[in-house]
Amino acid sequence: MGAGMMAVHGISTAFDLAGWSGQHLGRVEQALGQWVGRDAPAGLGEAMRYAVLDGGKRLRPLLVLAAYEAVQSGAGEAAPCAGMDQAALRAGMDQAALRAACAVELIHAYSLVHDDMPCMDNDVLRRGKPTVHVQFGEAQALLAGDALQAFAFELLTPDDERIAPAVQATLCRQLARAAGSAGMAGGQAIDLASVGLALTQDQLRQMHRLKTGALLQASVMMGAACGVSGAAAHKALADYGAALGLAFQVVDDILDVVADSATLGKTAGKDAASDKPTYVSLLGLAPAQAHAQELLAQAQAALAASGLADTHALAALADMVVNRSY
Ligand code: IPE
Ligand code: IPE
Ligand code: MG
Ligand code: MG
Ligand code: MG
Repeated sequence: MGAGMMAVHGISTAFDLAGWSGQHLGRVEQALGQWVGRDAPAGLGEAMRYAVLDGGKRLRPLLVLAAYEAVQSGAGEAAPCAGMDQAALRAGMDQAALRAACAVELIHAYSLVHDDMPCMDNDVLRRGKPTVHVQFGEAQALLAGDALQAFAFELLTPDDERIAPAVQATLCRQLARAAGSAGMAGGQAIDLASVGLALTQDQLRQMHRLKTGALLQASVMMGAACGVSGAAAHKALADYGAALGLAFQVVDDILDVVADSATLGKTAGKDAASDKPTYVSLLGLAPAQAHAQELLAQAQAALAASGLADTHALAALADMVVNRSY
């Protein structure tokens, strides 16, 4: 299929992912630039802004906004709220989705800062720049990560009466769970404990689901939580997020082997050099690539089963995750 063409629900449909992403990312970049690290003291804000701005694919914010868009397409009116009209409620939910998009990116950026530190992967290159600890020192990198994590939750809880307290609480719970010991931090602990070990495929899948998949799945579910979706759509989006989340890390493992550092903006060949178990080390390159395509098919099948009217952006993002070159 040519660029921009994909099969959605069995129909070949043109979807302009670059155009769609550009439009949404404009708002995300503007918001991050406005919000992150502005008043932080003693050089901390500079390190926070360095970690977050000017780089990255912004996949997680795009997933939040695509899922939000998908549930809008199937939704009736937003839940009634005393004394508030529908336009105000919609504007509030738009704001909640934008904040959720930024919050997941902050958690992701924080995880990268810590992942690169000498006590973890000891990397010097990230998003085409020296890593935060190389640029600002280890203590400042540690603190920048801490502050980004905290700020993510501050962003999710604005003093804005258009965003119901229950929605704010749900978003916080989803993000906290995906970032913590049942998600990213837990997965990173498994990763560090697995150096030099030959994991089974079940163990490797569990590590990848936690360290990377959880935050990607949460991005989808947080977007959905800003709108209204029925149980079937909710389940389908969770399945989509799980398949896409695992596929993402399988492809990250593949790119570490097949791509170069200039293309990736981070050091290639690092997994083998560090003796990390990966899908490539376990299955071999071609079977790992085939597995990523199977997971893509699972993600697309989940969208087809969702009953949601507009899943074009979610479908295109899954395609991009698996067929990307960086
Ligand atoms: C890299 O994530 C770290 C992993 C979870 C594998 P991305 O490939 O999304 O990194 P950026 O945000 O584009 O830099
Ligand atoms: C990192 O996985 C996942 C995170 C939670 C940051 P990797 O260690 O493989 O990510 P890269 O390859 O350094 O981006
Ligand atoms: Mg790592
Ligand atoms: Mg790493
Ligand atoms: Mg990697």
